[in-house]
Amino acid sequence: MERNSFLSDIQTLRQRARQHIEQGAVTAGYSADRETVIRLLNEALATEIICTLRYKRHYFMASGIHAESVAQEFAQHAAEEQAHADQIAERIVQLGGAPDFSPEGLATRSHAEYVEGKDLKDMIKEDLVAERVAIDSYREMIAYLGDHDSTSRRLMEEILAKEEEHADDLVTLLQGMETGH
Ligand SMILES: [Fe+2]
Ligand SMILES: [Fe+2]
Repeated sequence: MERNSFLSDIQTLRQRARQHIEQGAVTAGYSADRETVIRLLNEALATEIICTLRYKRHYFMASGIHAESVAQEFAQHAAEEQAHADQIAERIVQLGGAPDFSPEGLATRSHAEYVEGKDLKDMIKEDLVAERVAIDSYREMIAYLGDHDSTSRRLMEEILAKEEEHADDLVTLLQGMETGH
């Protein structure tokens, strides 16, 4: 039986896999610009770290009549952003890069901003803005990754879906505050 012509023949695949084995998951068939992907992932990593820090700050500063449920939401989001940061760092290492955890320039590398917020409502609003920044920048990254690096793309798609959930949670909280529930 002949293999489909759009697939590499088995001998070629086996031979290629033996070359540069020190590159681990990065094989000859990896068609993305690795350096660019690592840089973009490091920017996403910075975004996730900034978002973790901001949600942590908001969690500890939340006070007022609506505070308890909102604080719990902040804590949950902080934990989820932390998990995203870990997943992204892991992928950077798989690609042969180094995850940038340096506090130096962190806020500049991040797409989303660290805004403390003056009251509970303001905190929720700033978190919502940050989520919306992340949603748009991750969407662009996903489009760029396309079929060139489907693993990184799937990871970012998974994270994007979670950021959309976060934005939705925050809108609901904001509406709840406005109607006084
Ligand atoms: Fe996140
Ligand atoms: Fe988020």
